[in-house]
Amino acid sequence: MTKVLVTGGLGFIGSHTAVELQEAGYEVVIIDDCSNARETVLEGIENITGTRPEFHRIDLRDKSAVLAFFERHPDLKAVIHFAASKAVGESVENPLLYYENNLNSLVYLLQALHQREGAHFIFSSSCTVYGQAKDLPITEQAPVVPAESPYGNTKQIGEEIIRDSCKVYPALQAISLRYFNPIGAHASAEIGELPLGVPQNLVPFITQTAAGLREELAVFGDDYPTTDGTCVRDYIHVVDLAKAHVMALNRLVNRENSEDFEVFNLGTGTGSSVLEVIQSFERVSGKSLNYRIAPRRPGDVVAAYADTTRANEVLGWKAESSLDEAVLSAWQWEQKIRGLHP
Ligand code: WQD
Repeated sequence: MTKVLVTGGLGFIGSHTAVELQEAGYEVVIIDDCSNARETVLEGIENITGTRPEFHRIDLRDKSAVLAFFERHPDLKAVIHFAASKAVGESVENPLLYYENNLNSLVYLLQALHQREGAHFIFSSSCTVYGQAKDLPITEQAPVVPAESPYGNTKQIGEEIIRDSCKVYPALQAISLRYFNPIGAHASAEIGELPLGVPQNLVPFITQTAAGLREELAVFGDDYPTTDGTCVRDYIHVVDLAKAHVMALNRLVNRENSEDFEVFNLGTGTGSSVLEVIQSFERVSGKSLNYRIAPRRPGDVVAAYADTTRANEVLGWKAESSLDEAVLSAWQWEQKIRGLHP
């Protein structure tokens, strides 16, 4: 059974990917520093798959701890690297925290892995690298523009670090997955998004408002050049996203060695406005959402949605869930963790 390390595996996308990896027959080992996730997520994974992943609480900024871990796992050759700080606003206020956490950890993982024959590395990246793309839908050939935030910059620099490494270390094979907007939760409601503090992202704010944790949702601007004036994004079900990681790992495992560093956009290919997401929530929940139109949020792009042709054709992957299905799964998860009765 191929062993794969999932860093940040207690997190939102990491935990869903751990489930899909186990169900695809991989042996999953999780490293997480628990700075933005709870160890109880392991129970959720086990409740779904019947297998509790091996877990190590390690801070990946600690180089000696990273190298010692790999020495204890000489047979470990595959890594899916989610662990990173990911709050755009926080990165603007505290850039050095982001450069240290997101880049040092990446370098240490690559230093531990790069000389292991058959080393496979999958990097969690983001459509944020495109900024406001000129052409929509966005393909992988769209230019990577100067990042609007240190967070986005760490994703761009991270991809360059991996690209340069693949060129000179023949053992290292890597893929970068550029996510659009992950939402939702596993159908079992055993795992889901657990934003700490006030949610920055749209869907958890919607579900927390509906659950009574927030007074109302502020819609950040309705004067954009879009169909209804609100920003457009590509909301992808987190389980679809998780499955794409399995397909990417399968590709590396089965592909001839190559110095190519492949990049894939992961979205549904469909854009939805903020108001359309609200309408979706009201449709699937039967609840009316309390929201108001507020000023624009600095740094927001008007529209971003993926051209998924490459992921469809090369990875053999396509998102299957609709916006309604993804939003409903998010609501069912919120109801579960708040003890609300559907
Ligand atoms: C979506 C839309 C907001 C909250 C970010 C990161 C990206 C990735 C996904 C990590 C926007 C609007 C939001 C609210 C609102 N994260 N909104 N009221 O900004 O597209 O992407 O999360 O990888 O890197 O940049 O997602 O959910 O924050 O916003 O009106 O309370 O919802 O203005 O138009 P975003 P989001």
